[in-house]
Amino acid sequence: MRLTRRYRFAASHRLDSSALSPEENRTLYGKCNNPYGHGHDYSIDISVEGPLNADGLVVDRRALDRLVEERVLRVLDHKNLNQDVPEFERAVPTTENLASVIERRLREHWNLAPRLARIRIAETDRNTFEMETPFS
Ligand code: NI
Repeated sequence: MRLTRRYRFAASHRLDSSALSPEENRTLYGKCNNPYGHGHDYSIDISVEGPLNADGLVVDRRALDRLVEERVLRVLDHKNLNQDVPEFERAVPTTENLASVIERRLREHWNLAPRLARIRIAETDRNTFEMETPFS
């Protein structure tokens, strides 16, 4: 059985790589390179997969919510990703990198019976990124 649960957070970022010149950054990232950054209302879908427990549930949703709240939302919500999130001191806070950060943060503290099966993150109506996460 697979359950997908949706969470939301808001954050700001600026896409700018220290490996590139200002001109190259402007060309690559376009308006996402604007000096003062911009915000998104992100939506993340966390999918867990496993057999049903004795209560007829695939996961205790309160336990899942607690894990996501403590390890992901508290770190990202209403934050400046470039300045407030340690993983983005060096890495550029693209939504692709953000999905990897969320996956790693969940994996490191995963204490639930079902496995983490997939992470899906929507940055805008047009851009959605998905990661299959094949670990138990
Ligand atoms: Ni952006």
